[in-house]
Amino acid sequence: MKGWTRIIAVGAFGLLALMGLTACKGNKAALPEPAAVGEPAEGGTAMNVQKQPFGRTPEGTAVEIYALTNDKGLKARVMTYGATLVSLEVPDRTGKPGDIVLGYEALDGYIKNSPYFGSTVGRYGNRIAKGKFTLDGATYRLATNNGENHLHGGIKGFDKVVWKAEPARGDGDVGVKFSYLSKDGEEAYPGNLAVTVVYSLTNANELRISYEATTDKATPVNLTHHSYFNLAGGGDVLGHELTINAEGYTPVDAGLIPTGEIRPVKDSPFDFTTPHSIGERIAQVEGGYDHNFVLRGGGGMIDLAVRVYEPKSGRIMEISTTEPGLQFYSGNFLDGTITGKGGKACLKHYGFCLETQHFPDSPNKPIFPSTILRPGAVYKSLTIHKFSTI
Ligand code: GLA
Repeated sequence: MKGWTRIIAVGAFGLLALMGLTACKGNKAALPEPAAVGEPAEGGTAMNVQKQPFGRTPEGTAVEIYALTNDKGLKARVMTYGATLVSLEVPDRTGKPGDIVLGYEALDGYIKNSPYFGSTVGRYGNRIAKGKFTLDGATYRLATNNGENHLHGGIKGFDKVVWKAEPARGDGDVGVKFSYLSKDGEEAYPGNLAVTVVYSLTNANELRISYEATTDKATPVNLTHHSYFNLAGGGDVLGHELTINAEGYTPVDAGLIPTGEIRPVKDSPFDFTTPHSIGERIAQVEGGYDHNFVLRGGGGMIDLAVRVYEPKSGRIMEISTTEPGLQFYSGNFLDGTITGKGGKACLKHYGFCLETQHFPDSPNKPIFPSTILRPGAVYKSLTIHKFSTI
């Protein structure tokens, strides 16, 4: 933990705040160089963490953004609003860095209209049927914010709150730790839930996201990360090749609630046990891919969930996780109405999400792995995104 103690000069902070606000007004000028809060890591490498103001919420709460850099050209920017990954620069096969996640340049867009771009999603990622579940004899009614169902924690989920942040390595080489206390009754969930999320980079070119949570009353918890990836850095993602380490998936009804069945992927457009492009069979899947895959590892142990290869850039992303499920969402609801970074419209299939998670609607599906966290237990989850090129 050496080198985390440098204090930011107040003058520089004020100047950066001013420049941050300018950026929020739509000025597309390059962001100012942030003030350093970390020393170069031992051995004199460039790896560090820096922070700067990133505007304010409409309620006036200050938001900060942290830039993490490793020695290999990997750079992640994460902000306290929604513990959100704002950008992720990854070199292509020629060594040229490119931002591979969709989003906005300034805070404003995230507040006004974000389909969970880069968000930390909770208290319950994905859907709970009719926003209703029964736990220890009590029935809880959550917001129905997705048709008749509950989605991604409700009206004001973890993606829309401002988290506390501090530099912390976590299990990586450089990182930032976000903390949030979700109060008993928030979004109608039971129990005070204390949550931490650590984003860290390693020099093995990994972005690691690790979660912990404790509660004082039994509650469902299902935390995930909602980046829209595009390893080509733009255009549609249909040419990306996916290999998913899953022999089964959970079929859904019209409202995208699992039926309870675990169906083999064999001989279906859901079979990614060998590499297939996203576009190859997408027309056979009504609405596009938006399904939970049942990972071979079964959860608990860190295991390879999915490998993505993008032929034009040569970029590869491999995701490993302790979670038993993976929601593969092919950006079906993106419709061009959002203008994101670089003034570019986010059209259908311009990004895809790979959300490591427990299965949707688990609180109402006793046969699925349990998502109930009880007092005294610690919720732990780890997902690693490893980057390389060929
Ligand atoms: C998740 C869901 C999708 C969609 C997106 C957000 O991935 O599974 O159906 O709601 O979030 O647009």
